[in-house]
Amino acid sequence: MGEDLRLRVAETEDLTPSVRRFVLVDPAGGPLPGYRSGAHVAVSTPAGHRRSYSLVEPGSRAPQRYVLCVRRDVAGRGGSVSMHDDVAVGDELAVSEPANAFPLRRARRYLFIAGGIGITPVRSMVGELRARGGAQVTVLYLTRSPGETAFLDEFATDGTVLHHSSLHGRLDLWPYLAEPDDDARVYCCGPTELVQEVLALTVHWRPSRVHVEDFAGVDALGGRRTPFTAVWVPTGARVPVGADATLLAALAGAGIAVDASCASGTCGTCRLRLLSGEAEHRDLVLTEQERSAFVMPCVSRAVSEELVVGPAGPVDAAGPPRPAFGGGAAVH
Ligand code: FES
Repeated sequence: MGEDLRLRVAETEDLTPSVRRFVLVDPAGGPLPGYRSGAHVAVSTPAGHRRSYSLVEPGSRAPQRYVLCVRRDVAGRGGSVSMHDDVAVGDELAVSEPANAFPLRRARRYLFIAGGIGITPVRSMVGELRARGGAQVTVLYLTRSPGETAFLDEFATDGTVLHHSSLHGRLDLWPYLAEPDDDARVYCCGPTELVQEVLALTVHWRPSRVHVEDFAGVDALGGRRTPFTAVWVPTGARVPVGADATLLAALAGAGIAVDASCASGTCGTCRLRLLSGEAEHRDLVLTEQERSAFVMPCVSRAVSEELVVGPAGPVDAAGPPRPAFGGGAAVH
């Protein structure tokens, strides 16, 4: 991962009482590194959190701005509150170059299912597809109420199925997913329950046709937390990982820097090669196949007393393909 960009906040706008839109630009007015629809950036908040947010505008080779939306989550880990309370127009933020763990792939038909702030990567992809033309695009946008619906005016007039649970209860997704379609792709982004429901309702689909992004992420220090020892292969260093530390933090404390972004097992940035030992995988990125060869140290721990790990290296050359099914990035 390259060095962070320093970007100026050119504009903010409250889209709903809890969702704020931020427009970030190069202070010198130049173009920004390009990205593909569905990409995200990692932002360092003024309070010191590192959070990933989807870019809500269609992909571009040389965009003049990055636009992201942040839902204020008072029950969250503090990143969204800092973005809302501490960031003002004119401030500069450290922002990563875009990465994409939720890429738009080719298909004749698309079904997008967005829950709440999960609309952000979907908006980017749908914008690109509609501008390009040729594909059939269906969008289901599920929110609690009209007042909590970001981009309501836009999606109310473009054929999107808007569904508000406080008015109409849960939307039955089965009619949309009952018939598997090898010429279609399903993209779902939203809270864990929605993602799990879509995965359960598409078990009869070819896994490669279903793409999900769970923005809740994983609580790195939740559940069982047994101390273990990590052995860092390049130097042979033995690093104790205490019950209150993540593997990532323990490595950092020992002077071993591993690139990371979401810190919640969703973006895929911190991937390490697993050479020996049994991992307790908690991430939402690795496939079953990949789990024998890799581990995500921001959330995963060890079942065995020792885990032997090293840099992942070029993943495509060294391991199984990246997941088409599952894997996500953005914490909104
Ligand atoms: S930092 Fe995102 S998966 Fe570990």
